[in-house]
Amino acid sequence: MSLFKKKVAASLETLPVHIGIIMDGNGRWAKKRGMPRSAGHSKGAATFRDITRYCRDRGIKYLTVYAFSTENWKRSEEEVSGIMNVLRGYLRDAKNYTKDNIRVNFIGDREPLDEDIKALMEDAEKTSESFDAMTLNIAINYGGLPEIANAARLCAQKVLEGEISCEDITCEEIKKHLYTKDQPDPDLIIRTGGEYRLSNFLTWQSAYSELYFCDVLWPDFEAKHIEQALLAYSNRNRRFGNA
Ligand code: FPP
Repeated sequence: MSLFKKKVAASLETLPVHIGIIMDGNGRWAKKRGMPRSAGHSKGAATFRDITRYCRDRGIKYLTVYAFSTENWKRSEEEVSGIMNVLRGYLRDAKNYTKDNIRVNFIGDREPLDEDIKALMEDAEKTSESFDAMTLNIAINYGGLPEIANAARLCAQKVLEGEISCEDITCEEIKKHLYTKDQPDPDLIIRTGGEYRLSNFLTWQSAYSELYFCDVLWPDFEAKHIEQALLAYSNRNRRFGNA
């Protein structure tokens, strides 16, 4: 068997159950074309829809995408509202998830979001609750560090109320208070756009994730790029601390 065939076969055998994606490069994609950054986010949303369906068809059971971080509020008001409008557009078009048999779930702190967006998010979660082809987590106003701090606060509260003791604050106990409490941790995290960091994405859950970075700007990301990431993943040797 040629090396190529061997690698493709391996990629089919060892698919990740959960993929996380940091969709980076929308702004640069727009700038290169002399367009406003919001145009990059709109094109990025189209890519997001295509990649979501591709992952579902490929048998991925959980996909988590980083749509808006707790730090993204620092961007101009115009850009923030551009991203929120892209999200509104996606959520209003319910067939984006109903037709796809994809369960939609939001992770992050919803509190500061506009009321109409919060209502659309709840609606999407309720409508898609029984869909089982794939679970899609959309991270909005999400940060891994605040997620862990929140879990620590909830554990402390349980101690104060006498429900558990300090010794009961184990990794398992902390996990119970994360947004992804009922889900497996990401096996593979992909970041597009040529930066090599995790930027507060799934900080707890990524402890043993395989990381894959590529230079392609998110709006240009296609199925063939996911395939390259899957192939790289299939050739990794995951030891989880074992020799
Ligand atoms: C990072 O690229 C991207 C974002 C901060 C926003 C990502 C949002 C989307 C792809 C839209 C998602 C839509 C839905 C419906 C979930 P950047 O702006 O930092 O790019 P740059 O590094 O080139 O400036």
